[in-house]
Amino acid sequence: MEVSEKEISVEDEAEDKNVFKDCSKIAFYRRQKQQLSKKSTTYQALLDSVTTGKDSTRFQMINEATKVPLLAEVFGIEGNIFRLKITEETPLKPRYEVPDVLTSKPSTVRLISCSGDTGSLILANGKGDLRCHITANPFKVDLMCKEEVVMSINSLGQLYFEHLQTPLKQRTTREKEENASIDTSQENQEDLGLWEEKFAEFVDVKVNGPASIGLDFSLHGFEHLYGIPQHAESHRLKNTSDEDVYRLYNLDVYGYKIHEKMGIYGSVPYLLAHKLGRTVGIFWLNSSETLVEINTEPAVKYTLTQMDPEAAKQKGSSRTDVHWMSESGIIDVFLLTGPTPSDVFKQYSSLTGTQAMPPLFSLGYHQCRWNYEDEQDVKAVDAGFDKHDIPYDVIWLDIEHTKGKRYFTWDKKRFPNPQRMQELLRNKKRKLVVISDPHIKIDPDYSVYAKAKEQGFFVKNHKGEDFEGICWPGLSSYLDFTNPKVREWYSGLFAFSVYQGSTDILYIWNDMNEPSVFRGPEKTMQKNAIHHGNWEHRELHNIYGFYQQKATAEGLIQRSKGKERPFVLTRSFFAGSQKYGAVWTGDNRAEWSYLKISIPMLLTLSITGISFCGADVGGFIGNPEAELLVRWYQAGAYQPFFRGHATINSKRREPWLFGKEHTRLIREAIRERYALLPYWYSLFYRAHMTSEPIMRPLWVEFPDELETFGMEDEYMLGSALLVHPVTEPKATVVDVFLPGSSEVWYDSKTFASWEGACTVNIPVTLDTIPVFQRGGSVVPIKRVIGKSTGWMTDSPYGLRVALSTKGSAVGELYLDDGHSFQYLHQKQFLHRKFCFCSGVLSNSCADERGHYPSKCVVEQIFVLGLKKQPSSVTTHSSDGKDQPVAFTYCARTSTLSLEKLSLNVGTDWEVHIK
Ligand code: NOJ
Repeated sequence: MEVSEKEISVEDEAEDKNVFKDCSKIAFYRRQKQQLSKKSTTYQALLDSVTTGKDSTRFQMINEATKVPLLAEVFGIEGNIFRLKITEETPLKPRYEVPDVLTSKPSTVRLISCSGDTGSLILANGKGDLRCHITANPFKVDLMCKEEVVMSINSLGQLYFEHLQTPLKQRTTREKEENASIDTSQENQEDLGLWEEKFAEFVDVKVNGPASIGLDFSLHGFEHLYGIPQHAESHRLKNTSDEDVYRLYNLDVYGYKIHEKMGIYGSVPYLLAHKLGRTVGIFWLNSSETLVEINTEPAVKYTLTQMDPEAAKQKGSSRTDVHWMSESGIIDVFLLTGPTPSDVFKQYSSLTGTQAMPPLFSLGYHQCRWNYEDEQDVKAVDAGFDKHDIPYDVIWLDIEHTKGKRYFTWDKKRFPNPQRMQELLRNKKRKLVVISDPHIKIDPDYSVYAKAKEQGFFVKNHKGEDFEGICWPGLSSYLDFTNPKVREWYSGLFAFSVYQGSTDILYIWNDMNEPSVFRGPEKTMQKNAIHHGNWEHRELHNIYGFYQQKATAEGLIQRSKGKERPFVLTRSFFAGSQKYGAVWTGDNRAEWSYLKISIPMLLTLSITGISFCGADVGGFIGNPEAELLVRWYQAGAYQPFFRGHATINSKRREPWLFGKEHTRLIREAIRERYALLPYWYSLFYRAHMTSEPIMRPLWVEFPDELETFGMEDEYMLGSALLVHPVTEPKATVVDVFLPGSSEVWYDSKTFASWEGACTVNIPVTLDTIPVFQRGGSVVPIKRVIGKSTGWMTDSPYGLRVALSTKGSAVGELYLDDGHSFQYLHQKQFLHRKFCFCSGVLSNSCADERGHYPSKCVVEQIFVLGLKKQPSSVTTHSSDGKDQPVAFTYCARTSTLSLEKLSLNVGTDWEVHIK
């Protein structure tokens, strides 16, 4: 029996509170809090056990109470990264170490050990400017950059490590004696959830018993922390309380509440901290349920409470403590030492990879709805865009396109001829995305099910049978994507010969991959389900969705014989998901507050490596009023993944259904997106090559300006555009902060300019999208907008040259065929650099390795901020020909306009302005 959406959503809304845990219901959290409050256990590093290997320095550690030896390993990793691993020296069974996230074995650098006194050990990098000072008793690590202690580890003594034990019933008398320190009374056992944990009607039986870990980090001088998505929360991390900690546990939370720290669809256990002069990162590589406590001791409080001379030294210094706790696995943590935000981005991507280079079409506008009913509907919606002259690239089909929610099949009544439908789209140079979820309907006549069953490709329950749970198709089993063989087989399902009705314009959407299990605990899989390698689900829950997206992306690459770039959208994700495609923020609501929170949510994803991210435009649940819809399109046009989507029982909301004026406004917003595509594509190239996030919080671009550290209602797109979407109803004015005392900013439409370091009140109408170009930048645009990106390949460019206070500007343009891997393998690309200096604008090659034939010309150039009217403008081409150019100059806005130019985008030329 299929499950209807109505049934699920009604149930969810009513039950939210009882469906999901708060932290008081999480046993490993209670255990750690209880144990740590006793302050009874301290760890000691046994420094006489130190051994130095090729890659790392190892030593034993001992907990004074349990005497169970741990093994610590410190690595220096290329690019100023330290790695600390702590695990049991001789565990009863292997403990889970997260595979497949690190792009390769990190290249280690030898750490030189300079002996401290007998109670300490100092490990330094070659230059000696980065040092790790290890104190033996109690165990503590100070990370020092030059003479500054940047971070301390375990200075609060929160190192916590539950060693694996023999189950109570199987213990020998000797083991019982050895474990005498552990309270095994029935009452305590239950409360602490050591071997069994109850939640609602669910019982989690833990064959391995308690196995949780934890560690604290003190960040000296830092008050601003960011990261650890995904939460519907502010960009800057807040201080937590015992009842309210950040939870990383991938869950399907329909219409999630905002300003909550509960876990939603995806997790990246990585945070960044920033202060004047330094940015650092902590990447906690663990895929089990994880909790993070944050506590900032502000400078004032810190100094007022301590009046002795030592305290005086600390004057002015604040500190933030971060406490990571995970249910199982090992401690494996990477400390990224910066010092700049861009160094930290590089350090993190050297571990987990950069954003995949997307196909160009995926940067256009996507039209989705649950559901487009049938082929006719698709045709009509597609035609509607043309009729209303609105560009779009992709139409999406949700679960109803399948035969009874059997992915890789078609409902033949609704879609009798999927290929014909795709040909129609292809002729319009458009694409189709269809959904493919990880649950597989239990139906022996469904070939995907039968083949997976036969090969043992499903996740198992604790009894070793195929796990069964309910999702859209009714009773389903779940593919075990953690198994490389399953991934390989699943990838093969996307082959054109296997996936009937698919063509090369069909791309994929992975949903429900937390995984969502409707009547399971917290709507997900039981933690004692079993995966490949006999690992419990609890060990790897947060990485399940990552693996599905990986297998899907690889499948799309394979079906093209390695030639074409894939596009895969996923709801669930983990560290490193950026390598496989795009992420969206799931089931938001058609309310102003959700439009507003989309900005910090996307900023957080962006700085944790996932640049290709977006939120459902219009809000998934409910019916937006026209004004909200327009504002959402305007915001979405300036966010990386731009898709309108709506749930099944919402009213239709294609852009032309809200009257002429609103259609015009939505058309304008989407057209602005398409005009900026050259800039977007160039930003994606940079994200792909050099790890720079695309959507950037202001603090990333202005790391020395305190005022920017908490801003989340505006952001930078690359380094050139500042966007402040309107997120309030009936707004007549927005206050925009323009940073940088030596900066100048230009309104992207009126070209009015302001000096930086001030807040300006910008009057707005429903037409206005407040976007500002930074002086000193050149932004490439497309002058002619087509029906889709495919129609715009040869359309001419324009350049917006915004002069800095010094009268100069730089920018770049990347272009290639927009879909294949030839940019990588055959270096078929163009990377151009634009430079304006002393009245000369030049176009030169930014990367000599690249070649790509492009007929495109730069047709129009605007120079903003040109103080006086020129007397002549001439173009100089590389073959030495000079040509005078007609120009107009507007003294009111100091703007020079050059029109009807024909300067090839891929050749060197100059424009001289005298
Ligand atoms: C949940 C997803 O979040 C939503 O976008 C989708 O429409 C439904 N599942 C149905 O597939």
